[in-house]
Amino acid sequence: MAEILIGITGGIAAYKTATIVSQLRQRGHGVNVAMTESALELVGKATFEALSGRPVQSSLFHSDRIHTHIELAREADLFCIAPATANILSKAAHGIADDLLSTLILSFDKTIIFAPAMNPTMWKKTIIQNNVQKLIEFGATIIYPESGRTSCGEIGVGRMASPEIILNEIEKNIPQKNK
Ligand SMILES: Cc1cc2nc3c(=O)[nH]c(=O)nc-3n(C[C@H](O)[C@H](O)[C@H](O)COP(=O)(O)O)c2cc1C
Repeated sequence: MAEILIGITGGIAAYKTATIVSQLRQRGHGVNVAMTESALELVGKATFEALSGRPVQSSLFHSDRIHTHIELAREADLFCIAPATANILSKAAHGIADDLLSTLILSFDKTIIFAPAMNPTMWKKTIIQNNVQKLIEFGATIIYPESGRTSCGEIGVGRMASPEIILNEIEKNIPQKNK
């Protein structure tokens, strides 16, 4: 069984990540959850604490641990950010570490998976596509968003992949020693 770190950023699809955390736990994995301030505006910490059975971390400086940004990264076998906003993809592609989640990404050196989710116009932007390409070159796995109706009413590519697809990708990437 593996230690999985789940990062949640400020996309409306954050509610779907509850299914991912719940399923991982039911499959016997240990799950830590780190959320951005924007994610906390959209979904509650308590849901993820109940589903993971562990405290959710969201702050670099106000946490029950001193080096949360190092320890959570060290303990995890795999890191999956779902949903991944345009903002976190861009920050990660440029090494920006100005909050807990982005600092964790920078201090993590094993398998990292991003499941982007955003408005179709945002997803199509050259700057976002370039940043996604950069992340792939740096070794990250991208679970591409799906086509359909997004919460803002636009139809196009931008919906986060389903929890089932994300779970399969996580399971596929769990290190052999933990299987
Ligand atoms: C209701 C709502 C839904 C949002 N959904 C998304 C989204 O799906 N994808 C995205 O990239 N940004 C979305 N945003 C904008 C982000 O929350 C915003 O860019 C924020 O700065 C992201 O911060 P974070 O990456 O630190 O979580 C949404 C904002 C609101 C108010």
